[in-house]
Amino acid sequence: CGIIGYVGNREAAPILIDCLKKLEYRGYDSAGITILNGNIDTYKTVGKIRELEKILPEDLKGNIGIGHTRWATHGVPSTVNSHPHNSGDISIVHNGIIENYLAIKEKLQQEGYDFLSETDTEVIAHLLHSKLYGSVNNTEKTCDFFTALRSTLQEVEGSYAVTAVCSSEPDLMIAARKDSPLIIGIGDGEYYAASDVTAFLNHTKDVVFVDDLDLVTIRPEGVEFFDIDGNVLEKEKTTIEWDIEAAEKAGYEHFMLKEIHEQARSVNDTFSGKLSELDGSVNLEELNISNDEIRNIDRIEIIACGTSLNAGLVGKYLFENLAGIHTDVDIGSEFRYSNPIMNENVLSIAITQSGETADTLAAIRSCRSYGCNSIAITNVVGSSITRDANNVLYTHAGPEIGVAATKTFTAQLIMLYLLAIRFARAKGTLNVNEAKDLLVNLKRIPGQIQKILNHKDTIRECAEMFAKERDYFFIGRHLNYPIALEGALKLKEISYIHAEGFAGGELKHGPLALIEDGTPVVAIATKGHVYEKILSNIKEIKAREAKVIAVANVDDTEIEKYVDWVLRIPATDELLSPVLSSVLLQLLAYYTALARGCSIDKPKNLAKSVTVE
Ligand code: G6P
Repeated sequence: CGIIGYVGNREAAPILIDCLKKLEYRGYDSAGITILNGNIDTYKTVGKIRELEKILPEDLKGNIGIGHTRWATHGVPSTVNSHPHNSGDISIVHNGIIENYLAIKEKLQQEGYDFLSETDTEVIAHLLHSKLYGSVNNTEKTCDFFTALRSTLQEVEGSYAVTAVCSSEPDLMIAARKDSPLIIGIGDGEYYAASDVTAFLNHTKDVVFVDDLDLVTIRPEGVEFFDIDGNVLEKEKTTIEWDIEAAEKAGYEHFMLKEIHEQARSVNDTFSGKLSELDGSVNLEELNISNDEIRNIDRIEIIACGTSLNAGLVGKYLFENLAGIHTDVDIGSEFRYSNPIMNENVLSIAITQSGETADTLAAIRSCRSYGCNSIAITNVVGSSITRDANNVLYTHAGPEIGVAATKTFTAQLIMLYLLAIRFARAKGTLNVNEAKDLLVNLKRIPGQIQKILNHKDTIRECAEMFAKERDYFFIGRHLNYPIALEGALKLKEISYIHAEGFAGGELKHGPLALIEDGTPVVAIATKGHVYEKILSNIKEIKAREAKVIAVANVDDTEIEKYVDWVLRIPATDELLSPVLSSVLLQLLAYYTALARGCSIDKPKNLAKSVTVE
């Protein structure tokens, strides 16, 4: 999503529209604005910003306003679910996820607040009203707007960037953030607050970056910064050197690189609010499957295409290892024309980032005719698959622009961990302590991804070394086998090098014939029960003069004896390491394609979402 706020001496509406258009690439299923002009004047609609423009009255006057372009997270794309959300004389827009919104919503409903939408954001609006006026029908303020917002933000858990206005304080807009970006633009007698500098870069390049748990009051005469306890803060102004195009990519050369970097956060967004390390449980409240039903599952049938298929293959190991449920993985386009053995005790799981892949949709529909329950794992709220599956789990990775899937893939992996742990706990195949350990390690993954990103120069050097090769092979065993497939897929998609992934043990049954002097082979050799086995495979290839690039743990001192290059990932649980290896292999593919001068975000012949058979 994108948020914006404007305070100044010009008409706010056309400026907000202009800023929202710049943010449209972040989300585009609905949009809205509120103009403060004695009242709160709110307009919102489904669709792109130009649809919003059409419904604005020509004489919409007011110098203060807030706006939003939405990428749905809670609740389908619709006018009521779009922002701003209002409560009495208060209007707010929000980016992020409020984790405890259900508990707050129940409390506010008991106090008489009516909720119009299914969003977590509306909770902030009503909570803010209850803090400001004491109760739903009261019109006398109990404190000022700033104090009410501070107290609201102290009560919500999760992430937010918000801009808020209240018509009883007609010269004020307040912005605040926690774990979601917020930048203040300082113009000539005017101010902007946005989730992304792109929004206002046409108007000013002077900015202040807001820190977590800070609030900003913006009035026509100036801007002030505060911490959550209300203490005044001093902030430095910076000048942005980027042009609009660079800013959309947050300064990265390509969307793909930006999205690779976003994984240190997006992974967290996928599991945020769902883990309870205290009792080793995973809370998937969207999942409408009882423990008894979980215990009755005979078999899981995963259906997906492309990168999502590779996530599904990792899922097979997880469901089998953790929950003891036999799992098959099928390609969407194959499944729909096969004669699968299905019954009502088979659970089908469709994995599709776009939610629109025609073959996956057709396959999941056919599952329904066998009477089996289904789950869709997708990144796009309200996409077609959400209407065809009985249960929907959203990965919350945010919009992905690069055609080659990166952050949506790791988000799918995380969702599969959550689901497998949830099933394993219901079946008793994973005890409390084992589950707690996994959850603690899962929470460390975002920080560990950041460590890989911090050392990307080594990966780049390696990529450049082999960028002129004709063929590339990837090997892995067990859980790392699908990661070898994904590593190869990523490389071929964007660098056009012929790349293939194999199970380590399969090399001698054919592919070894292709290994020549100098052929690069990436071996995923992270610590685990098959570590010694992959080492033997590495020795087999080295004997054929291949160049071996190992993906290994930081503390592995043995591996360098056998290989030509070592690329390292932090040590984690064997089951979780595929997430880290994937990030590393995405960077390897990216830097290879960069060295070859390829069109990285839009590879030839490929589309982000394949809606035809
Ligand atoms: C296309 C994309 C791939 C993606 C595949 C499946 O081929 O280029 O990146 O993995 O579709 O897409 P889905 O949206 O179903 O995950």
